[in-house]
Amino acid sequence: MNKNIVILGTQWGDEGKGKIVDCLTADSSYVVRYQGGHNAGHTLVVNGKKIILHLIPSGILHNSVIGIIANGVVVSPSALIKEINMLKKNNIFISKRLFISNSSPLILQYHIEMDIAREKKLGINALGTTGRGIGPAYEDKIARRALRMEDLKNEKVLSMRLEKIVDYYNHQLVSFYKQKAIDYKTILKDLLPIIDIVHDMIQDTTCILHQAIKNNKKIVFEGAQGSFLDIDHGTYPYVTSSNSTIGGVITGTGVGPKDLSCIIGVTKAYCTRVGNGPFPTEVFDDIDKHFSNKGHEFGSTTGRKRRTGWLDTVSLSRAVKINSISSLCITKLDVLDGLHEIKICTSYKNSNTLESASFPEGDNWENITPIYETYPGWTKKTLGVKKLEHLPHEARNYINRIEEITQIPINIVSTGPDRSDIILIQDFF
Ligand code: GDP
Ligand code: IMO
Ligand code: MG
Repeated sequence: MNKNIVILGTQWGDEGKGKIVDCLTADSSYVVRYQGGHNAGHTLVVNGKKIILHLIPSGILHNSVIGIIANGVVVSPSALIKEINMLKKNNIFISKRLFISNSSPLILQYHIEMDIAREKKLGINALGTTGRGIGPAYEDKIARRALRMEDLKNEKVLSMRLEKIVDYYNHQLVSFYKQKAIDYKTILKDLLPIIDIVHDMIQDTTCILHQAIKNNKKIVFEGAQGSFLDIDHGTYPYVTSSNSTIGGVITGTGVGPKDLSCIIGVTKAYCTRVGNGPFPTEVFDDIDKHFSNKGHEFGSTTGRKRRTGWLDTVSLSRAVKINSISSLCITKLDVLDGLHEIKICTSYKNSNTLESASFPEGDNWENITPIYETYPGWTKKTLGVKKLEHLPHEARNYINRIEEITQIPINIVSTGPDRSDIILIQDFF
């Protein structure tokens, strides 16, 4: 029986996936990013030292683990080099243990310029993207015009294709968005030194993973973003441009569903969202201040303040179904410490008809009102607690209620940002 696990977000991102990936890869051989790009920001804290990864999978901090950036990820070569150098500065070396798919589409300067120009043009209707060129890069992939990692291996072809695509984008940037034209030669000049560094990392990662599975190696698949930022299942159009739900693992790596043994959904004990779009349980004022200050809810990628809200089990239950989640991990339980009372949204109501409403699709979010159950909070600290039985009974009741509603076991509870602040209720390997 294989022991491959998927760790993905069940909300709108920033659930604490990176920390959980870092913890669980301690006992694995491979860690794989399968979608998204450097829009992700995964924070790891080891003995008080913080490292934020955007593109390189979080398990890379363990020296014996092999990191894979698979075909579903859109790769910015400059962001990649920046991150490799950051790791080097922190005495983490990736030589011969980081591989990137031949087929990963590239994010280049014109994608970023397009992303930013479009957001500017949308004005108050902007999506609130991270400005990393993610949408335009995935558009190129689907339109079958993307430059991919494999193209970095042939300078002549790269130069020719780059000239054409920059011409295509310059028409839009200059004529429609009134921006400056881009020079393909500058992009090429910046790429050349990077190619030397990454050349040998560019591989058939599907093949590497099949071999690993054949050799019974343990693999952790690391999701980026969250289920409701998914291009198909999220709060469209306020979503990212990839499949952050379970399907992304399959298409984004070439590993089939039979080779996934456990799907862990990571859920904050409350909820956050960065960027625009529906958020039924959003709170303001004092509760927002509490979550924001105690949970340090500022984006790991853009530094933006995250919107905050109560835990929403209507959407969580939907995430459970969409992803076939077999196990839940609750993070940031400690952020609830000190609250007088805690709310859980257990259903939605349509505020016009006063009838109960299911998880809406499309733009039917406007009239959704959350219905809450209210529970007493706790005064004792949960920060750093490592055993379930050491949690205050109100906190255990809260966890039990989430299990009861979702009908999924909570096998991990995270009680602080550090790698060691964790309650592992079940051993996954
Ligand atoms: P990711 O994108 O899902 O990996 O999450 P981020 O790293 O963007 O955001 C999660 C934030 O919460 C980071 O600052 C983490 O260091 C922090 N964090 C993770 N787990 C816990 C926890 O259990 N308690 C607290 N207080 N912070 C946590
Ligand atoms: P991690 O992996 C939170 C959000 C952006 C915006 C929308 C589209 O750290 O959980 P994009 O740049 O992807 O086109 O932006 O998606 N977003 C995230 N929000 N965490 C993330 O990643 C995110 N990646 C993208 O804020 O609302
Ligand atoms: Mg994040």
